[in-house]
Amino acid sequence: MNNDSEVHDVSGKTIFITGASSGIGAATARAAVAQGWQVGLFARSEDKLATLAAELGAQAHALPGDVTDLHSQQAAIAALVDRTGGLDAAFANAGMGLSAAGTEPGDPGEWERMIRVNVLGVLWTVKAAMPHLKDRRGHLLLTGSAAGRRHIAGSVYGASKWFVHGYGGNLSEEMKAFGGRCTIIAPGMVDTPFFDEPKPDKLHPEDVARAVIHALEADPRCAVNEVFLMPTR
Ligand SMILES: NC(=O)c1ccc[n+]([C@@H]2O[C@H](COP(=O)([O-])OP(=O)(O)OC[C@H]3O[C@@H](n4cnc5c(N)ncnc54)[C@H](OP(=O)(O)O)[C@@H]3O)[C@@H](O)[C@H]2O)c1
Repeated sequence: MNNDSEVHDVSGKTIFITGASSGIGAATARAAVAQGWQVGLFARSEDKLATLAAELGAQAHALPGDVTDLHSQQAAIAALVDRTGGLDAAFANAGMGLSAAGTEPGDPGEWERMIRVNVLGVLWTVKAAMPHLKDRRGHLLLTGSAAGRRHIAGSVYGASKWFVHGYGGNLSEEMKAFGGRCTIIAPGMVDTPFFDEPKPDKLHPEDVARAVIHALEADPRCAVNEVFLMPTR
């Protein structure tokens, strides 16, 4: 009889999630706690993190901070490792969009803020998490996008996600040296506060959270390099 199981035991493992106060990050935190993970919740909104941590109980750790600050992420991960004993995974998910699309109408100040979050914020999560992940042959997950897989006229936001896809592929290669894994989570449109209007017929954040859990819980022999999800409609 074949004893292989697609889901390996993750009980007691720890994940650090950025952008955990809302949308995809909050849904992933809920799904990870349900699967037995200890979860570090990172975002700027202290009130939302406190409410989510209270909902999730002892497995959740509210760690307020800003992804654009490397030291803030390093301190949060150090506090999480102190509490849980180590770090098995990090989900670099925090991100923002732009109010004006395209190059000519785009606002350079807003581009700069977005690049700090969508590009530097991801680099800082990886930089802060990597030494700990190395100890445990850990897993990095990065939120890319359908907008990081195809060209969209003048999309500076999409270009920030092309960075995530490119860097994630390079990380997969880098992490092989210690038996680690990297996954790009690439959703199309998801119904979250990322948009001003509700998008109920698009993906739901729980759909994306399931993809994260699938990648995290794949047998260690299997590296899920990318999960690309699109709404049916
Ligand atoms: N919704 C979509 O259609 C879609 C599709 C593809 C990819 N994505 C990507 O998915 C990721 C999550 O977005 P979402 O849809 O879940 O949107 P969301 O509900 O607006 O969540 C964005 C999260 O990022 C956090 N964040 C933003 N700036 C931050 C900063 N400087 N420091 C720390 N945290 C920061 C926010 O928390 P605070 O404001 O509390 O800091 C919030 O938790 C983003 O990377 C986005 O680009 C979204």
